Amino acid sequence: MNLKVSLNKGEGIEVVWVFSDEACECKKIEALKESKVFKAGVGEVLADLFGESKKLYLGFGKKADINYETIRTAFFKAGRQLATMGESNAFTVVNKIEGKCYGQTNKAVAEGLLQSEYRFDKFISDKKPASPLKDFTITVNDKLEVVEEMVEEIKNVIEGVFLARDLVNEPAMYMTPTALANAARDQLTPLGVDVQILEQKEIEALDMKAFLAVSKGSEEPPKFIIMKWNGDPSSEEKLAIVGKGLTYDSGGYCIKTPGGMSTMHCDMGGGGATIGAMYAIAKNKVKRNVVAVIAACENMISGGAYKTGDIISSMAGKTIHIGSTDAEGRLTLADALYYVATKEKPNRIIDLATLTGAVVAAFSNITTAVVTNDDAFAEEFIAVGERTGELFWKLPTNEKYRKMIKGDTCDLLNSAKGGAGTITAGLFLEEFIENIPWIHLDIAGTAYFDKPDDYLPKGATGIPVKTLYSFVKCDGVCTHGKKD
Ligand code: BES
Ligand code: ZN
Ligand code: ZN
Repeated sequence: MNLKVSLNKGEGIEVVWVFSDEACECKKIEALKESKVFKAGVGEVLADLFGESKKLYLGFGKKADINYETIRTAFFKAGRQLATMGESNAFTVVNKIEGKCYGQTNKAVAEGLLQSEYRFDKFISDKKPASPLKDFTITVNDKLEVVEEMVEEIKNVIEGVFLARDLVNEPAMYMTPTALANAARDQLTPLGVDVQILEQKEIEALDMKAFLAVSKGSEEPPKFIIMKWNGDPSSEEKLAIVGKGLTYDSGGYCIKTPGGMSTMHCDMGGGGATIGAMYAIAKNKVKRNVVAVIAACENMISGGAYKTGDIISSMAGKTIHIGSTDAEGRLTLADALYYVATKEKPNRIIDLATLTGAVVAAFSNITTAVVTNDDAFAEEFIAVGERTGELFWKLPTNEKYRKMIKGDTCDLLNSAKGGAGTITAGLFLEEFIENIPWIHLDIAGTAYFDKPDDYLPKGATGIPVKTLYSFVKCDGVCTHGKKD
């Protein structure tokens, strides 16, 4: 879809905003609202093709309750409806909403429309034809250039989200560690990101024993992917992003159930979102320095695989007792985190990982759990998520939880007993970050869905690409949208 921003009305069918508690200019619509045929709920649509000009009435619920997320959802539904109706041109007039930033409002309209275009159909023989909706005009009455810039920006961010989704949706038989590394190189190098891929021998030379232990059972070679974006050479500041990159997690000898295993190609969801975020950052030429790493491998079963009861070492030299071969993500992340902390010396670290089933028990597929050693950093990040529409919640940490991952015959346990699995997994990672301000995002529930939820599709969601991007761009002090 070609999104245009203009001071004039566009071509084709007009998408008209309707609030449930405010009179609509069209008397027929008011009558339909009264008779409850059309209630103007968020994303409810009603087409009028018989008037002088074609219109699609789009509901937003109560005016006082409108926010950027309801705008995204409504325009996602409008985009889908226009495509179903076979419309090739459409437009909407965006008016200023009391208490909302005009730029952000337009950005949410654009995002909703763009989100309506995602599909993962490469394996379907009889593909549905591409959406007929070719041109959509966002008609503004102010700030044309600002809005144009913001629409261009969100287009690139959503491309990053779609890239993350595509990488995660790809079956593990194709999306191997090698394929993930190649995708990072092919997608990011043309945008000016420096991509380096370390091979098994180099990973061994770095002493990444924990990462290598997980990879041992697989015939696919591990890859350590390093991506550097130097958007602000004048600054010493640098953020590190670390994504979990298990291209398949069978559970190892602590084998998963068939049901649990069937979606475990999503276990590189953190890595996929890392590549998607780097894409958005580089494509928008964000003036920040970011280094991202992914320790990519498979967790498989073979005569050479690691076993329960093993005591392995790590790049940091800390020894780890393997209580479960299925708690493999934290082992790969331990070395990836220690690598960035010591070799790159960033000011801040964010890791993102489909790390624990426990987070789904706590938060379902709705909220990403946060574990941190720096509450202010976490609050800053969570606040950015409130604007992007991605939900985060910080979990408690204390010495009692830390004690749960301490070993008797070695330093650490990869699998703690006694519940609080998401907290103890996060605190295990904390052992490898060298006291640098850090937040851990457990996206096991939010990276991959069994069924669609509004603009988030079934399968990979691309969470948390949008929040990572916005956090990097604004570094938590974004002035846009502060009014809400
Ligand atoms: N990859 C899984 C976590 C997961 C679960 C991701 C559901 C996506 C959806 C992870 O490696 C795992 O198996 N964790 C174990 C840890 C336990 C053995 C300590 C878990 O959560 O059961
Ligand atoms: Zn696992
Ligand atoms: Zn895993």
